[in-house]
Amino acid sequence: MAILKVARLGHPVLRQRALPVEPERIRTPEMQRFIDDMIETMREYDGAGLAANQVHTLAQVAVIEVLANPRYPEAPEIPLTVVINPVVTPLVEEQEDGWEGCLSVPDMRGVVPRFTAVRLQCLDREGQRVDLVAKEFFARVIQHETDHLNGIVYLDRMRGLSTLSHIAE
Ligand code: NI
Repeated sequence: MAILKVARLGHPVLRQRALPVEPERIRTPEMQRFIDDMIETMREYDGAGLAANQVHTLAQVAVIEVLANPRYPEAPEIPLTVVINPVVTPLVEEQEDGWEGCLSVPDMRGVVPRFTAVRLQCLDREGQRVDLVAKEFFARVIQHETDHLNGIVYLDRMRGLSTLSHIAE
């Protein structure tokens, strides 16, 4: 496995749309290695998730995991979830404000409104269909990562930039 280089804000790959993965490609050794590398990279940098755009690859693949994460000490745990070709549907109208950070926007945090419950339909790393309902922090991370796959970063979702903060402050 390998730790991949993470693109930071300003790199055009973060503003491009990732392409759907052909289902027959999912189980290839190349794709499995790429997924393993994404997981290792997310863990190395204590991310709650990582989207393929962030490692310079325009494929609709994201990984999510929260296990006693020092960057999110209050966050509930989320088991490792591999998300391919996601479709996300809000299940509520209400949005809730919460702090977010991003490995592509290092050392910063901002308050972002997100739907508190979403339906996630996607494929997993075996190519099996996944259809689940996620709430609260898990729903937030899903929205953050699927935004990346559409070239959107959390700064675009903020109501204003007044909460944008350096973590150190
Ligand atoms: Ni991010």
